Amino acid sequence: MGDLLQLAVVIPTFNEKANVATLIAKLDQALVGLNWEAIFVDDDSPDGTADAAREIARLDKRVRVIQRIGRRGLSSACIEGMCATAAPIVAVIDGDLQHDETLLPAMLDLLKDGETDVVIGSRFVSGGGTGEWDSDRVAKSALATKLSRRVLKCDLNDPMSGFFMIRTDIVRHLSPSLSAIGFKILLDLLTASPTPLRFVEVPYTFRCRTEGESKLDHVVAMEYLIAIYDRMFGRVVPVRFAMFSAIGVLGVGIHMAVLTALFVGFGTHFLVGEIVATLAALTFNFFLNNALTYRDRRLKGWRQLVDGWVSFAVICSVGAVANVGIAAFLYEMRDGAWAASALIGVLVGAVWNYALSSKFTWGR
Ligand code: GDD
Ligand code: MN
Repeated sequence: MGDLLQLAVVIPTFNEKANVATLIAKLDQALVGLNWEAIFVDDDSPDGTADAAREIARLDKRVRVIQRIGRRGLSSACIEGMCATAAPIVAVIDGDLQHDETLLPAMLDLLKDGETDVVIGSRFVSGGGTGEWDSDRVAKSALATKLSRRVLKCDLNDPMSGFFMIRTDIVRHLSPSLSAIGFKILLDLLTASPTPLRFVEVPYTFRCRTEGESKLDHVVAMEYLIAIYDRMFGRVVPVRFAMFSAIGVLGVGIHMAVLTALFVGFGTHFLVGEIVATLAALTFNFFLNNALTYRDRRLKGWRQLVDGWVSFAVICSVGAVANVGIAAFLYEMRDGAWAASALIGVLVGAVWNYALSSKFTWGR
């Protein structure tokens, strides 16, 4: 029996092929004398990141690779990596060399005293920094940090950090209550814990990316807002249902616009206008839900999209029948309560469409 495994380093990757070997070499240097493993969690990157990592792993048994198919998401990748190790302590570090791996041994020491649950690499304590960020990104980051204060009730300077080390049993314990949405895995962990986690921040300077590009785009920014929503109201109205419903409301707008254009503008038959408007709204809702509500299990390619569209159309048709049926029934029972009857019909239809499409259209 060799020495006990002390530390796992989880590395979420998407299109980081050019950084894989360098990162392992840097970890090898930084972690001399320790018993560690590195776990790449790759979302089937088109550039072949997983292959590059496996090539190293064949020679170096400290390196492991989890390749997820048909899934996307930084947070969920980190969670899966953290739950896949036998090491008592786990670190998360970006795969693009922007975080400072030389801090890892010091972070490990800080966790050993038993008084600390999480050690956080921080850009916003003295000695740390954001490197060569432009003022735009600094402002956005400051705004996001400010917003995080609404859900995070502690004095943490860098809650958005993607570089931290934590006791593995804490993650395993908290994993059922994590939202796993978007980029903010640390914030997710801190806000999921019923008792405040004891943290220490260590300063580091965010390095420049030299290879590949950032995946932090507008959708990720939106996912951040969703994650905050989830922590604040997610118990009352689940976040996916809220998005699905909001998109449904937009679909009504599309329906009315198309109908107005055809029926009023071009003078088509009302029925023709209705049919085209319904198909347009349905298609619009399908693609928007596919891009946003179910981004993490998005359908891709002709086959999946056509199958998905058909199942969505079937489900929504039944939903529409249920909607009208229930509204008519209630209207009969409570004579005159037309608005309330219609609204309840809409709600039942929405829940039906949501429940069935999440299971059948996007449920794989
Ligand atoms: N598995 C997986 N799936 N990995 C992903 C995904 C995904 O969907 N999206 C991004 N990654 C990986 C990248 O390949 C990289 O290794 C790491 O996650 C960070 O992604 P970047 O796209 O480089 O993010 P960033 O540099 O803009 O943001 C980083 O710094 C922020 C601090 O402002 C991240 O660490 C953020 O979490 C952090 O808040
Ligand atoms: Mn990066």
